[in-house]
Amino acid sequence: MMMRTTNKSINRRDWLKATALFTGGLTMLPPVLQGLQAAPPAEAAVTTLEPPVSALGHSGLTATSLTGFSAETASPLTGLHADAAIEPRIPGILKARLFANENPFGPSAVAKKAMMDSMDNGYQYPFMLLKDLEAKICAYEGLDAKMLMTSAGSSPLLLGTAITLLSNGGNVVSADPTYDDLPTRCEKIKATWIKVPLKADYTHDLDAMEKAINKDTKLVYICNPNNPTGTIVDVAKLKDFCERVSKKVPVFVDEAYIDYLPDPAATTLIESVKKGQNLIIARTFSKVYGLAGLRIGYVIAQPAMIDLLGHYSAAGGYALSLPAITAALASYNDKPYIDDVKKKMEASKSFLYETLKKEGYTYIPSHTNFVMFPLKMEGQRFVEEMGKRGVGLRNWKLNNEDWCRISIGRLDEMQAFAAAFKELS
Ligand SMILES: Cc1ncc(COP(=O)(O)O)c(C=O)c1O
Repeated sequence: MMMRTTNKSINRRDWLKATALFTGGLTMLPPVLQGLQAAPPAEAAVTTLEPPVSALGHSGLTATSLTGFSAETASPLTGLHADAAIEPRIPGILKARLFANENPFGPSAVAKKAMMDSMDNGYQYPFMLLKDLEAKICAYEGLDAKMLMTSAGSSPLLLGTAITLLSNGGNVVSADPTYDDLPTRCEKIKATWIKVPLKADYTHDLDAMEKAINKDTKLVYICNPNNPTGTIVDVAKLKDFCERVSKKVPVFVDEAYIDYLPDPAATTLIESVKKGQNLIIARTFSKVYGLAGLRIGYVIAQPAMIDLLGHYSAAGGYALSLPAITAALASYNDKPYIDDVKKKMEASKSFLYETLKKEGYTYIPSHTNFVMFPLKMEGQRFVEEMGKRGVGLRNWKLNNEDWCRISIGRLDEMQAFAAAFKELS
């Protein structure tokens, strides 16, 4: 509690400082802002990209919305920010860490060695190393360097997108439930979140999402594969959807979990960006690469959009750490490592499916490293009881019913889950 108060007061102070800088900057640097206004991205100019001038003086923009302290206040039902709040609530020894969709098999041995070897260079800003990583990603994807922006995980880029596109108000359209970080950030800056329920098979209802777009829509957010359901969107339909919709409004496609699919290249929307569509694709090294604690991710978009997002996102060489870039460089597209992770994940997932079936439970078949299943008791109580048994999980409300989202961990973690679950089911 003490800690929380201290953190908040520090951040309020920082926020006041930042606000003073911003507002000072506003009066001192009008040409910069005018420039932004004068030169919105080409496609966006006819759609919804508006310079986020009001973000700088937005009265509703609080320290909470800028610093991610939603982690301290969010209910466990509202999103991944809640993970930080859930973790310390688990008493005793955590036998199975299954609440944050991490990859316990990472970082790869090659990435660990590269990080150790890089320690002597810890005094250097990692600008050049970052250029190497960006060049590697661009070469693999066939992208111009101006279409890529890296950051400390994809989260700062989700936040940067919310601030850039929605700080003048308007709405963001997404499925419900989905990964709610970006839409809740939008709500914090006083934009509206239009939630479109998933279909009966728990996949995105693209037709309904398209109908939900109105004149105030500034962004459509699609998480594919979807968190928390682990479902995927039909690729051909998604491509059609993006081609049509992105002429009116930018579409953000969050591909955090795409590396778990058998053929990510067949599912990604990067090709559509290369064709000039107004999409923002988010990728992260936090999942299959097992680098969540190192913090590194990126977005791919039109150069003008990258430029605009860059004004309001902590990105590039000042935002990233040398070990994170080193680890990402060492493991990017390391096929043997990725295949090994996927094999272990699939073994753990099959074990989980068998456990659930044995105990008389159903589940949503998952395309990624977490699984949702409906509970037979109140969700919060279930998570607490499992926590007492050393198993960390997340609960969710879906169609007004209690569900659990379990991340796929090592086999010993899934066995710990099975033993505790048997006592409760
Ligand atoms: C769908 C999705 N997008 C983005 C993120 C953020 O990941 P990171 O900031 O670690 O890249 C997460 C984290 O779990 C996620 O589930």
